[in-house]
Amino acid sequence: MFVSPTASPTASPTTSDQPDYSMLSRQLASILESERNLITNAAQFSAFIYNSISDLNWAGFYLCTHASKPTAEFPHELLLGPFQGKVACTRIPFKRGVCGTAAAERRTVLVSDVHAFPGHIACDSASNSEIVIPLIKDGELFGVFDIDSPRLDRFSRDDQQGLEQLVAIFVAASNIK
Ligand code: SME
Repeated sequence: MFVSPTASPTASPTTSDQPDYSMLSRQLASILESERNLITNAAQFSAFIYNSISDLNWAGFYLCTHASKPTAEFPHELLLGPFQGKVACTRIPFKRGVCGTAAAERRTVLVSDVHAFPGHIACDSASNSEIVIPLIKDGELFGVFDIDSPRLDRFSRDDQQGLEQLVAIFVAASNIK
């Protein structure tokens, strides 16, 4: 017998805008459980996020490397790592753009309209909102994870919390050296 999904009392209350982050956390832990290589897990993580969250046009890593023009305050800069989406800019200095701000301030930066963010670096003109989460292991910053959407105001505080949890699983599952 056919039962309409909308009539089912067990129909999921989630919408395409609100991913089930608990389920995604369990799936991610299982995907990463047998490998600790940073680049391998970063590639898997980018693909997992890009294909699990709706309305994205870019998802990927910028990893800390020695700066081409190091300063005492910032001896490192961000170098493009594994990602999904269009070709992106290769190096980002600390403090520059959304990624450099998240790295320098070691905090998640949620931008509802990238055009209103001073110094935003436009790698893909389709991007309208963005969230960047710092990667910190044992007190050491080793990069950021950047997610872009063509939709204005795509990321809520609930998304921020859920995505930070997924990033924490990736960090715990990966060796950084
Ligand atoms: N928009 C970022 C640059 C990276 S791309 O979005 C992939 C920024 O302002 O740091």
